[in-house]
Amino acid sequence: GKVCLAYSGGLDTSCILRYLLDEGYEVIAFMADVGQEEDFEAAKTKALKIGASKCYIEDLRREFIEELCYPAIACNAIYENVYLLGTSLARPVIARAQIAVAQKEGCFAVSHGCTGKGNDQVRFELAFYALQPTIQVIAPWRDPVFYNRFPGRDALLNYASEKGIPVTSTKSKPWSMDENLAHCSYEAGILEDPNTSPPEDMWKLTVDPSKAPDEPEDFTLHFQKGLPVKLESKKDGVKTDAVDLFLTANAIARRHGIGRIDIVENRFIGLKSRGCYETPGYTMLRAAHVDLEGLVMDREVRALRDQFVTVSYAKILYNGLYFSPEREFLEESIVASQKQVNGSVRCRAYKGMMYVLGRWSDTEKLYDASESSMDEIGDFQPQDTTGFISVNAIRLKKYGRAKEESGES
Ligand code: ARG
Ligand code: SIN
Repeated sequence: GKVCLAYSGGLDTSCILRYLLDEGYEVIAFMADVGQEEDFEAAKTKALKIGASKCYIEDLRREFIEELCYPAIACNAIYENVYLLGTSLARPVIARAQIAVAQKEGCFAVSHGCTGKGNDQVRFELAFYALQPTIQVIAPWRDPVFYNRFPGRDALLNYASEKGIPVTSTKSKPWSMDENLAHCSYEAGILEDPNTSPPEDMWKLTVDPSKAPDEPEDFTLHFQKGLPVKLESKKDGVKTDAVDLFLTANAIARRHGIGRIDIVENRFIGLKSRGCYETPGYTMLRAAHVDLEGLVMDREVRALRDQFVTVSYAKILYNGLYFSPEREFLEESIVASQKQVNGSVRCRAYKGMMYVLGRWSDTEKLYDASESSMDEIGDFQPQDTTGFISVNAIRLKKYGRAKEESGES
């Protein structure tokens, strides 16, 4: 039968490709372009040389930004207060494109090179099953026959040389990476000790903030219904296309060293994992969106959204439940929450940070400068709040008296 393998061109998936052939399968290789730096043509040549009967390269950058990154920005999605979900966001579009290729080619199974300890295996496979319930999955790193035969990198290297698989870099970096337009992640290897700081040359997307330019760079981000629609900067001009806008935000953030984090997170399966991430443009887009909401969003809508939607949406993405009824439900509430989120934020990139310089909206009606002003009386009378405070104090006075009586301070 035919198997569609998610292929990266690296050592692991090259060996898996050959292994599947040895097992008697026909292999269709599949590569997703989500904006990672990659020589796709070289990888395709390699897949065909190893023995794949075809190799698909699918450009998923636009759907990645428009369908995944933008709704996540619109609800300020964040996992465990720090992780912006860069890898989690790419998995749904990759899985969907892989299933489409598998269906087109009549594959009975899909395969991937995820380990048995991570989040990605869960994300890919839950997506596969939701999109095509009859699909079979071949996960070699969870198959005892495979992992006992290849207990380490040396065994893979020996197999590669035995089978004539070209190995591009013999000395791999001492960590694992996953890159796309939103971020680059670094995990495993020397990073497994949470107290070992990464070497400076690990970071590939952003400049070291201490070496960033002494000149700040200002730009303006415009939002419509919570989605970025325009970026204006002196240096890069005006960008309105989603891909151009995202790439430009990345270019600005990268040269100013914005978006690096170093964290320990909780994986879905229950293990803790240390990871470093750089999420340049996305960090700025999200920060500007958070700022604009302060100006234009209703307080109670915001509070409910923060409590239920933001947290749940992040968890759904992280745990790989994108193709689910709960995600569809939340996405509608994100749209509903963003109806009034129209406006612009003036931003400054400088030495690893994005600063907000100001914001405005032509449509919002909630912020009234004279009503909020300390220098004007406005619509309600100052004495009105005397009653407001008295009523709110009823319960607290009771509490205070009870404490006094029991002798507690
Ligand atoms: N820990 C992050 C996440 O679960 C990054 C995973 C990186 N994946 C990879 N195959 N290198 O989203
Ligand atoms: C992997 O284990 O394959 C990568 C890391 C992860 O999925 O969390």
